[in-house]
Amino acid sequence: MKFLLSFIILLSTFWLSELQAQGVHLSWYSNDEKNNTSNSIAVTWMGNTSNESIYYGTDSSKLKNKAPLEIKYSNELGLYTFKSKIQKLKPDTYYFYRIGTSLAQNPVYHFKTAPKVGTAKKVVVGIWGDTQDNKGNFNFVQTDSILGQMAKYPLHFTLHMGDIVENGSVIKSWKKFFDVSQPINANFPFMPVTGNHDVINDSNNADFQKPFPVFYDLFNLPENQLNYSFDYGNTHFVAVNSGVAQKASLEGKVLFGVNSKEYNWLEADLAKARKNKNIKWVVVFCHYPVYAYGVSLVTGWQENLKLLLDKYKVDLCLSGHRHVYERHKAIRGADIFESMDINVYDNPKGTVYITNGSAGGSLQGIGGSKSSTILFTPSERIYTYAVMELDGNEIKYEVFDKDNRKIDYFKIVKSK
Ligand SMILES: [Fe+2]
Repeated sequence: MKFLLSFIILLSTFWLSELQAQGVHLSWYSNDEKNNTSNSIAVTWMGNTSNESIYYGTDSSKLKNKAPLEIKYSNELGLYTFKSKIQKLKPDTYYFYRIGTSLAQNPVYHFKTAPKVGTAKKVVVGIWGDTQDNKGNFNFVQTDSILGQMAKYPLHFTLHMGDIVENGSVIKSWKKFFDVSQPINANFPFMPVTGNHDVINDSNNADFQKPFPVFYDLFNLPENQLNYSFDYGNTHFVAVNSGVAQKASLEGKVLFGVNSKEYNWLEADLAKARKNKNIKWVVVFCHYPVYAYGVSLVTGWQENLKLLLDKYKVDLCLSGHRHVYERHKAIRGADIFESMDINVYDNPKGTVYITNGSAGGSLQGIGGSKSSTILFTPSERIYTYAVMELDGNEIKYEVFDKDNRKIDYFKIVKSK
């Protein structure tokens, strides 16, 4: 009898866990006048049954509002996917939400809407990149440690530098990534760019440099989800898809060729942001670094992107790809600007370039200190993540290892 009871409990626990929502994550999905970071949000997840719903509200004990839901069966995932776009929210406000079926309730998660565009309020952004599950990071074990540390900070959202998984065609990697990152991604919007491992790398495929089909089941990002932008407070963030830059260069298929569709999109986007009086900072993030030690320059990719970063005086360019942390001097055109204090960029005349590619993927060689543009890189191979704080006229940037030791810090001051 005791054995039978234990068996029934075990079976029902397994059955109920099968009904739990999987890979719950938040993102922003739009940045227009009507729906933007201050009044809307997307919740995306996977599940075994189609019988799910989502309720939200400002009081965690009374989640009365039922959110709209788009439900689809994904053959790629072998699961149902759920995409909810919640609109007409109040700016700068905490909300709570719960996903569930009538039988299995998930935990209550939360999110906070952005303040109205132009508001110079403190914003805390988690920065991570290259979480790919290759040797040393199988099942995202290193990434899991990184996220455990990053969760200690009062984040508003995170930016991911791409190469989310080792091979974007491997479905179980995506499932595991979203499982491991759920504690962060279910509470703070997850805004990634695609890296060369996330997109189709067969140059004979008509969809070369576009994501694998499963990507479109898993994500709910603005615009075409590859090149997109959003405003948060007084900052304009722009995500740029670098594709498979090195291979594309050999085939004459490099993205962001001058006057290409994506180049013209970026030019129009940056021009609009620079005309917007509510926007003080412009931050671009892309997988391939524009400046990095040991990365061969890809003909057309870095040079073309840099034309626009220079022209529109982008403040900060964040990237990954190299599995290191590197911080460069401010650069514009051919000019490399020296700082009086290597930790302070005081009204810099150029863009500050950072590589943040060490949140899990097997660590790569060091030696960047030999490069003429580098201000700081660790002297040992080290897993890192960063916490960026935008506060009116200053950007503060702190870099930590997975034991939470501070590896580097700097600030950019723009008082003029
Ligand atoms: Fe990469």
